[in-house]
Amino acid sequence: MNVQSPMGLAAAAAAAVRPCRHRLLSSATAAGTATSATATTLFPRCPHPYLHTHGRRLPFLASAGSQHASQTGPATTPTPIPGSVPTTDPRAAVSGNLPFFDRVLFPDTFPVETPPTGEDDAAAAAMQADEEVAPAPPVREESDTEREAWRLLRRAVVSYCGEPVGTVAAEDPECTETLNYDQVFIRDFVPSALAFLMRGETEIVRNFLLHTLQLQSWEKTVDCYSPGQGLMPASFKIRTVPLDDNNEGFEEVLDPDFGESAIGRVAPVDSGLWWIILLRAYCKITGDYALQERVDVQTGIKLILSLCLSDGFDMFPTLLVTDGSCMIDRRMGIHGHPLEIQALFYSALRCSREMLVMNDGSKNLIRAINNRLSALSFHIREYYWVDMKKINEIYRYKTEEYSHDATNKFNIYPEQIPSWLVDWIPEKGGYLIGNLQPAHMDFRFFSLGNLWAIASSLTTPKQAEGILSLIEEKWDDLVANMPLKICYPAMEDDEWRIITGSDPKNTPWSYHNGGSWPTLLWQFTLACIKMGRPELARRAIAVAEERLSDDKWPEYYDTRSGRFIGKQSRSYQTWTIAGFLTSKMLLENPELASILTCDEDLELLEGCSCCLSKRSRCSRRVIKSKVVG
Ligand code: GLC
Repeated sequence: MNVQSPMGLAAAAAAAVRPCRHRLLSSATAAGTATSATATTLFPRCPHPYLHTHGRRLPFLASAGSQHASQTGPATTPTPIPGSVPTTDPRAAVSGNLPFFDRVLFPDTFPVETPPTGEDDAAAAAMQADEEVAPAPPVREESDTEREAWRLLRRAVVSYCGEPVGTVAAEDPECTETLNYDQVFIRDFVPSALAFLMRGETEIVRNFLLHTLQLQSWEKTVDCYSPGQGLMPASFKIRTVPLDDNNEGFEEVLDPDFGESAIGRVAPVDSGLWWIILLRAYCKITGDYALQERVDVQTGIKLILSLCLSDGFDMFPTLLVTDGSCMIDRRMGIHGHPLEIQALFYSALRCSREMLVMNDGSKNLIRAINNRLSALSFHIREYYWVDMKKINEIYRYKTEEYSHDATNKFNIYPEQIPSWLVDWIPEKGGYLIGNLQPAHMDFRFFSLGNLWAIASSLTTPKQAEGILSLIEEKWDDLVANMPLKICYPAMEDDEWRIITGSDPKNTPWSYHNGGSWPTLLWQFTLACIKMGRPELARRAIAVAEERLSDDKWPEYYDTRSGRFIGKQSRSYQTWTIAGFLTSKMLLENPELASILTCDEDLELLEGCSCCLSKRSRCSRRVIKSKVVG
C-alpha cells in the first residue's frame, strides 16, 4: 500500500478535475474528438445528493433481474451511464488511429477471429447464448462465516451518483488512519466483482467497468510524471467537492490515482490487464456482449494493448516493467519481466482476442496479439520453467557462449542457483521462476504468477499439473497456517537491505516479502478447478475458514508459516473477504471457472515461426514436443 501524504491529498483534491489527461466521454462524438481534447469537464458529474457526510456510500442492493446472467436471450442493450457513449457501430472505433500496429511485422500465419457482433445472424446469437455461463443460485445454506463475509462485502461497496461502482480496499471501523485503503483499487475489486457476478448481481461490475474506462489515461506529459496513454489507474476515490465558493451545493467526482501521487510513482501495469480480464468475465456470465462491442469499450481495450505492445528497447516477448508495478507495489526486486505481469499480460491478450470486433482497423492488432501470444508462451514455457532436471541443467551450464545456438541463452552463471533451492526443488513437479533477465534468474516462487499462468494456459498442461503438485508437496511452506504465500522464500539480511532498500514493511516473512495473503485463495481455487483438483482447493479453503472471521479478515499474515496476523495488516480487507467468497462459490459451481480461464490453443504454437532458432522454421511437431511438453 502506498501512502498518500497530506501534501499528496491536497494536490489530489486540487486536481479533482484533471483536464487533458483523461478520456472525454461526455458527448456522442467523444471517440472521434478525444485525441484533441483539451480542458473540459472530464468525469460525469452529478449534483451531490447530500452534504458531505451523507450518502457517500450506500448499501448495495441487487437490482433484481437486471441483466441477470441466467438470461438466455440475445444480449441486452446496455443502459448508458452518465457521460458514456452508447454506440451501435463498432466500426466507428478509433482503431484506425493506432498507427503502431501497421508497423508490426506479421507473418500471415494466423486465422483472425472475431466474436459475433450485434449484426450477426440468429445462429451467432444462439451460439452466444450457448456460451453464456449462468450464475448458480445457492444450493445450500450459507455458513455463518459466509453470511458475515457477504455483510462485510456489501458494507465495502461505494456509490457514485447513487449507483454502486466498486468496493473500498478495506473498511476497518477501528482504524482511524485510512491511508489509501478507502479507495477502490482495480486489482482488489476483481474478486468482489466475481462474487457479485456469480450471485447474479451484475450492475456494480458493469458500472465499475464503464467508470474506470472513463478514468483511463489519455495524454502523456512526461514533465508532470503523468501516465502513458491507455494506462488504467491503480485506484480511484469518490470525492465530494463544493460546486462553488459558497459551499451551497456539492457534487461527486471520481479521482483516479495512477501511482503518480503515491510513494514511488510507479505505474500500475496490472490494472488494465485486470480490467480486460474482468470485462470478458462479465460479458461471458451475463451474455451482455453488447458491452464489449461498444466503441468506447473497444477503444479502451485497444489503448491498453497499444501501450503493452508498443516498441521499446526490449528484445524479449515478455513485458518490461519497473519494480512494484503489480500486486507487489513496493520495491521487491521484481523489475524487468516479472512473472505476475507476464501471466496477466498473456491472459489479457487472450481475452482481448476474443472480444475485439474485427474490422479493417483491428485486423493488424489481432495479428500482433497472436504473434505476441505465441512468442510469449514459448518464452515462458521454455525459459521460466524449472524442475529438478532443468535446475541440474543450469547447474552444469557453460557460460559466455556467443552464438545463436547457445544453450545458456541468457548467460546465467550457475553460481546463481540459490542454496535453498537445491534442497527445496521436489523430484516431482516444478514451477515458473519469478523473473528472467540477461544473466539473472529470480528463482523465488511467486504464487499469483504461477496460478494465473495455469488459469490462462500460459503453461503447458503438464507444467500446470507440475505447479499444483509442487504446491501440494510444499504445503507447509506455501500454505501452512494461511493460504497463500505471496512469494517464497523471503529475502533476509543483506539481500533484504539491498533489494527492498531496507523497507520496514517488507521485513523477512512479512507483507510482500514472504507474507501470506488470503486473497490469493481464489486464484488458487481457480487453478485447482481448471486442473481437476478441487480437493486441493477445498483443503486450503478449510485452513482459511478456520481463522479468517476470528482474525477479522486480515490483509496478510506474517511469519514463515503464516501464524501471526501481519504486523501492519488492515482488518476487514475487502479482497480477503471477497477472495474467500469467490473461492467458495467457484468450488460450488466449478463450471463458472470458464469465465476466467482460457484453454490451450494449439494454433498459437503453429504460429511460432521464429521461436526455436532464427534459421530453421519450426514444424508443428517440433514445437509441440518442445512447448506442449
Ligand atoms: C497493498 C497491496 C496492493 C493492494 C493494495 C490495496 O498495497 O500491495 O496489491 O492493491 O494494498 O489493498
